[in-house]
Amino acid sequence: MGAIILITQLFLLILPSPTKVAESANIALPGCRDSCGEVSIPYPFGIGPSCSMSEAFELSCSITNLTTIPYRYSAVILNISLSLGQLRAAMPISSKCYNSTTKLISIWEADLIDTPYRFNHEKNKFVVIGCNTVGYLNFTVNQNYSYFGGCVSGCDRPESLSDVSCSGIGCCQTSIPKGTSYIRFWFDENFLNSEVYSFSPCVHSMLTEEDGFAFNTSYITTQQLLDQNTSIVIDWFIGNTTCDSAQTNKSYYACKSDYSICLNSNSGPGYLCNCSDGYEGNPYLQGGCQDIDECTNQNPCSMDGKCHNLPGSYKCSCPFGKRIKHNDGRDCELHLSLLIGSCASIVAISFLGFGTYMVHERRKLSKLEEKYFQEYGGWTLLKKIQSDQGFGFTIFTKRQVEQATNNFDSANIIGRGGQGTVYRGTLRDEMVAIKKCKIVNESKKKEFGKEMIILSQINHKNIVKLLGCCLEVEVPILVYEFVQNGTLFNYIRRKNEGSHISLSLRLMIAYESADALAYLHFSASPPIFHGDVKSANILLDENYMAKVSDFGASILVPADEAELVTFVQGTCGYLDPEYLQTCQLTNKSDVYSFGVVLLELLTGKPVIDFDAPEEERSLSSRFLVAIKKKKMHDLLDDEIKGDDMKVIMEVANLAKKCLNMKAEERPTMKEIAQELDRIRKLKQHLWGQVYNSHEMEPLLGETSHDAGYFGRDKEAEESIAFGR
Ligand SMILES: *[C@@H]1O[C@H](CO)[C@@H](O)[C@H](O)[C@H]1NC(C)=O
Ligand SMILES: *[C@@H]1O[C@H](CO)[C@@H](O)[C@H](O)[C@H]1NC(C)=O
Ligand SMILES: *[C@@H]1O[C@H](CO)[C@@H](O)[C@H](O)[C@H]1NC(C)=O
Ligand SMILES: *[C@@H]1O[C@H](CO)[C@@H](O)[C@H](O)[C@H]1NC(C)=O
Ligand SMILES: *[C@@H]1O[C@H](CO)[C@@H](O)[C@H](O)[C@H]1NC(C)=O
Ligand SMILES: *[C@@H]1O[C@H](CO)[C@@H](O)[C@H](O)[C@H]1NC(C)=O
Ligand SMILES: *[C@@H]1O[C@H](CO)[C@@H](O)[C@H](O)[C@H]1NC(C)=O
Ligand SMILES: *[C@@H]1O[C@H](CO)[C@@H](O)[C@H](O)[C@H]1NC(C)=O
Ligand SMILES: *[C@@H]1O[C@H](CO)[C@@H](O)[C@H](O)[C@H]1NC(C)=O
Ligand SMILES: *[C@@H]1O[C@H](CO)[C@@H](O)[C@H](O)[C@H]1NC(C)=O
Ligand SMILES: *[C@@H]1O[C@H](CO)[C@@H](O)[C@H](O)[C@H]1NC(C)=O
Ligand SMILES: *[C@@H]1O[C@H](CO)[C@@H](O)[C@H](O)[C@H]1NC(C)=O
Repeated sequence: MGAIILITQLFLLILPSPTKVAESANIALPGCRDSCGEVSIPYPFGIGPSCSMSEAFELSCSITNLTTIPYRYSAVILNISLSLGQLRAAMPISSKCYNSTTKLISIWEADLIDTPYRFNHEKNKFVVIGCNTVGYLNFTVNQNYSYFGGCVSGCDRPESLSDVSCSGIGCCQTSIPKGTSYIRFWFDENFLNSEVYSFSPCVHSMLTEEDGFAFNTSYITTQQLLDQNTSIVIDWFIGNTTCDSAQTNKSYYACKSDYSICLNSNSGPGYLCNCSDGYEGNPYLQGGCQDIDECTNQNPCSMDGKCHNLPGSYKCSCPFGKRIKHNDGRDCELHLSLLIGSCASIVAISFLGFGTYMVHERRKLSKLEEKYFQEYGGWTLLKKIQSDQGFGFTIFTKRQVEQATNNFDSANIIGRGGQGTVYRGTLRDEMVAIKKCKIVNESKKKEFGKEMIILSQINHKNIVKLLGCCLEVEVPILVYEFVQNGTLFNYIRRKNEGSHISLSLRLMIAYESADALAYLHFSASPPIFHGDVKSANILLDENYMAKVSDFGASILVPADEAELVTFVQGTCGYLDPEYLQTCQLTNKSDVYSFGVVLLELLTGKPVIDFDAPEEERSLSSRFLVAIKKKKMHDLLDDEIKGDDMKVIMEVANLAKKCLNMKAEERPTMKEIAQELDRIRKLKQHLWGQVYNSHEMEPLLGETSHDAGYFGRDKEAEESIAFGR
């Protein structure tokens, strides 16, 4: 018997090659080689004792092919995976070959007992190739040498062979148990059929990575597998304890990096480290786990979403008009709420180009919604929002607005006016007032978007801020800042029980309202005439600060003088008589109405009293009559009757000028604001001080308006500089 029996240990070797420059930092210890040839060597593996975590992970890389490491096993390593705790190694195929005179045998074993390595039982298969062969595998699970298994490969004629698969004809395969640490191959000598060696010279058995192996009948008919290697997958792990006990001894705990986690090994007694979700790198090194920039390679967000990397995660943001779908956080869905706060998103969108964006948007709106959206000039508005950073304005969707108001539940109604119904609502966790407009005149529809742009730029502390609108509906819906404490009307008509408004407070409210209207008239561009100034349109916040509201549908002053504004709006009792005759709304119409508000503040009386004689039916005529008869005192609100009469008379005088029948003789809103400011300060000044008659100049006499009256209003200028 000239049999050569090769029983040898499997040696772990690493493929040699010149030193390679590290591709990714931080996989090996500082000063240690991190690769050998094509194979990268992450810590805990290393070349040399000081570069590896322990002897078991010490490798050697040499310019010669076979450089063993001083440990009990050896093999050529093809690849090391840190995150899976696996490596791929070459393993020789065991074979017996015959010809008439010679038996060639090469039988291998591999011993991983007492090492932190195990044969992976999921990826490897025990494969036997040959005709009428029984191949055996003796194996050890952990320390027991007591098991063996095998499979039978049949075939007695070459014609019976088929390339199809390893299924019992010329080839058989079986799996190995979990935790296998030792294997040895052998063949059943009695079964070997020398009759078939004429066409099947060899039988083979091997452990092989299932994925890398494909049966081929030429393996039976030739000697090509003799002295060849297959690749196998080996699990490795750290230590001989579980995570729980490993963590009790921190200095020996291998998961050194922040953002690392510990996992018990699947196949042996030790544990593995892994970087936490969203991190990658080497968990066995301090600072080894690095944030994954999810956005660099393929965009994880839906096609039109923009990816933003975050530590350990990422977020998607959507282009204008879209928002993140809540369920997966990746897809954008149509959503015309444009959160313009973030400059980044605006910059990002600018790259898209407006043309394509518009086409895209259009497709997503329903036909009807699109019709409304277009009619109200939504695209103009959108374009404006897009081009204008810091434009704090939102186009809300129908659904958002419906949700905010609980489907326009009447329980949420906080006001009804000539222009529409106002609901209380919650949008983006903020209280808002939502106004559902009445039908808008067809010819005005197209102007709507344009008006929104102008109105949204109004930024004055005494003007209710327009936050956004919804245009994809039949009648536009406007969303305003919510003002806590209702209308001035409710306060002065005592509808708010127990509230007492002093003269000083009334003066303050009057001044703030006048200042707001002056801003609309003189600082807004183009100028805005309110058109419906009344106490019900002056809101008070929790500090009694006045906020002028409901100028939403007010008429913009035509740029072209020929374009006269020709429809009547306003509220009875406040209407400028000249406006009623000329149908021409001017800033002086607002002044007249404001005069009536001053009267309300002084008298607390209704602006129309149908029970009164005809000439005293309106508050303004009643006031003028009282002035004439010097019976002003009777008309005053009880709450302020005892207060400073001189101050009250100054206000009355101012109101009288506002109510002048001739519009051009009325003071401007700016003059009124200045005058009220003066009276207000005078009142403060009088408080506890000796009255100084020199300060009582004739109301609005020549001395009180000096040069620069129509100059730029500094405060207004500052407040219009919106954005951040
Ligand atoms: C290394 O392997 C190559 C091919 O695998 C072979 O040609 C060469 O002789 C080997 N060198 C040594 C020193 O074994
Ligand atoms: C198979 O692997 C052994 C060591 O594991 C090595 O000596 C031999 O050269 C390899 N053979 C081939 C063909 O790669
Ligand atoms: C090693 O594994 C990595 C990741 O699984 C793979 O991309 C690479 O091709 C493998 N290299 C070899 C030599 O198998
Ligand atoms: C380690 O984390 C990576 C990425 O999260 C994952 O693919 C891998 O399966 C994890 N390893 C183990 C052993 O769970
Ligand atoms: C049988 O194999 C041996 C070793 O490979 C060889 O020397 C011998 O010539 C072979 N005999 C025949 C008949 O092929
Ligand atoms: C394999 O195991 C069987 C059963 O335990 C035993 O009879 C046989 O001798 C073993 N073979 C080898 C080569 O160790
Ligand atoms: C070996 O196997 C026997 C029987 O299955 C079992 O009782 C024993 O604990 C095993 N020993 C080891 C070290 O796993
Ligand atoms: C089987 O091996 C032969 C020779 O190596 C090759 O020509 C043929 O393509 C292989 N068949 C398959 C299915 O791989
Ligand atoms: C675990 O490993 C330590 C040192 O590596 C050794 O002292 C101890 O005996 C081992 N425990 C077991 C159960 O193998
Ligand atoms: C940690 O483990 C090592 C070796 O197993 C031991 O020498 C050391 O005393 C342990 N430290 C603590 C705090 O348990
Ligand atoms: C709409 O406005 C136009 C002119 O601006 C006017 O002729 C028309 O009567 C108005 N329609 C309605 C319903 O108010
Ligand atoms: C505003 O309203 C709240 C409750 O609606 C009330 O408690 C508060 O006193 C009011 N503030 C003023 C200044 O009226």
